[in-house]
Amino acid sequence: MRNKIVAGNWKMNKNLSETESLLRELSAKLPDTDAEVMVAPTFVNLSGAVHCLESSIIQVIAQNMHFAESGAFTGEISADMLLNIEVDTVIIGHSERRALFGETDEILAKKVKAALAKNMRVMFCFGEELGDRKSENQFNIVESQLKNALFNLDADSWSRLVLAYEPVWAIGTGETASPEQAQEMHAFIRNTISQTYSADIAERVSILYGGSVKPSNAKEIFSKPDVDGGLIGGASLVADDFVGIIKSI
Ligand code: PGA
Repeated sequence: MRNKIVAGNWKMNKNLSETESLLRELSAKLPDTDAEVMVAPTFVNLSGAVHCLESSIIQVIAQNMHFAESGAFTGEISADMLLNIEVDTVIIGHSERRALFGETDEILAKKVKAALAKNMRVMFCFGEELGDRKSENQFNIVESQLKNALFNLDADSWSRLVLAYEPVWAIGTGETASPEQAQEMHAFIRNTISQTYSADIAERVSILYGGSVKPSNAKEIFSKPDVDGGLIGGASLVADDFVGIIKSI
């Protein structure tokens, strides 16, 4: 059985007191669920969030990290720094990191390797742009993103990987992939992993969908057999919406 996961990517939103109050509200309203629930506040508030969620099942995860152990990398954060504040899962490869901060497949491959070397869990994001889908090139793009960043990993590493398919055209746009489009891509991803590694590894890896998931569309998207949960941006900033999405899994 694969883990179901609902993760909130808060991006550059919420100061410390807002973080604490959203987490308190979330904790109070959290429904009973078999799914793992995660939130990714911004770096400066990770420690406060961990503290705030001490007795909660909600996991605190990071939005990014650097691949180096330490050193002259002004403004960056290392795996050890995250682990030291009890954050052991990191999002890598978000499309905003790729598009706005120049993170290439090569850089992302280094980040994934560095995180896994420290025994962290990695939530790896990828997905095609609108032009790729219009030219029906989405499967090639996704395959090459996976190949360049993940397919050099050994089989054991896959137990610590979670995938998040996020079509760039659906992120923050209000436009969602249809449940059928999501299922089609997730099945393709699983099949590609099966061919590259094994059917067993492909069956075990959780593949989340991300891109304008809301309480109103979550249930239908999550009902698809290869969709194991969601990575939620905007709707994760409102407790009732995030709770509504968790209830849909
Ligand atoms: P969105 O963002 O839910 O606001 O579209 C998703 C994401 O960026 O992970």
